[in-house]
Amino acid sequence: MSGKGETTSLSKEGCKIAHGDHVLIARGAKQQWLVKMERGKQFHTNWGVISHDGIIGREFGDVYTSTTSNVSFLLVKPLPHELATRFGRKTQIVYPKDIGFVLVNAGIVPGSRVLEAGTGSGAMTAMLATVAGGRTPGTVVSYEVVERHHEAAKRNVELAGLSRVADLRLGSVLEPAARQRLLGEAPFDACFFDMPSPWDAVGLAGEVLRPCGVFCSFSPVVEQVKKVHAALSAGNWYSIEAVDMQLRTWQVKENATRPVSHGRHSGYLVFARKVNAPPPMEWNRKTRKELARELRDAGELDDDAEVGDLFDE
Ligand SMILES: C[S@@+](CC[C@H](N)C(=O)[O-])C[C@H]1O[C@@H](n2cnc3c(N)ncnc32)[C@H](O)[C@@H]1O
Repeated sequence: MSGKGETTSLSKEGCKIAHGDHVLIARGAKQQWLVKMERGKQFHTNWGVISHDGIIGREFGDVYTSTTSNVSFLLVKPLPHELATRFGRKTQIVYPKDIGFVLVNAGIVPGSRVLEAGTGSGAMTAMLATVAGGRTPGTVVSYEVVERHHEAAKRNVELAGLSRVADLRLGSVLEPAARQRLLGEAPFDACFFDMPSPWDAVGLAGEVLRPCGVFCSFSPVVEQVKKVHAALSAGNWYSIEAVDMQLRTWQVKENATRPVSHGRHSGYLVFARKVNAPPPMEWNRKTRKELARELRDAGELDDDAEVGDLFDE
């Protein structure tokens, strides 16, 4: 903390807008454009022309006024997820509320090696690569089976400057050739599967993850969750958990503060940690409550009795 009379100097590193930078040119939350700065170029909006040369050299956070309309815009530095979710979308994508939860729960850190499939539009890939990158870059190996998705994702990942970290491959992650290649590259710290049959990839994940590595799948419907859960339950997996994230946004106004959205469903996440042996059998024993319900249904336990009563002398 700086005391009285001391001066603090905020590092301006990375604050200046340079040729090649992406800038969110904003006129409020609903009107913003992601533009890559290129010398000599112009960007046309209904609110006037924006000259890239007039922006390059300024700082992120500055206000820029169009010389053709006198309208002002804010120059915002996009967050990685803002870059990733503005990509051209060929597929449904994973949204920030789910991405954040996955990154934390899958323990993705700089240097992590992550296997992903399918790449889709590359939104999740970009976020995995952003976090796994850094000074000691990790790797995100991502498989996509549809060529036009793969090509679009490649462009997106390039746009985000993450090609160094993300290795995008065309093909099914379930092909024997992919498995052979991945076995040679293992171990991975985490696997993320956003594809129609993630249960088919559970075996592969078990082979390529390092011990205690994290399996994660994203599925829109519960039937998929049940299948992936069953596949994990049959193998060496610990802490198998299915969750869905509900996000509500609030309007904050004098005497009118209330939720304005009531949590739209996006999908279910299933997490599990790979272990070296099946979890001890006794973990799977029924809880006393479940046992009591079963015994009552079978007429073997009175309604007001507890399971323990059966064993009392
Ligand atoms: C919902 S999209 C993924 C979106 C992506 N997570 C994102 O955030 O942009 C599902 C993708 O899985 C791909 N896919 C399906 N089966 C696959 C497989 N066996 N191997 C690799 N990709 C597969 C599909 O072609 C599709 O592009």
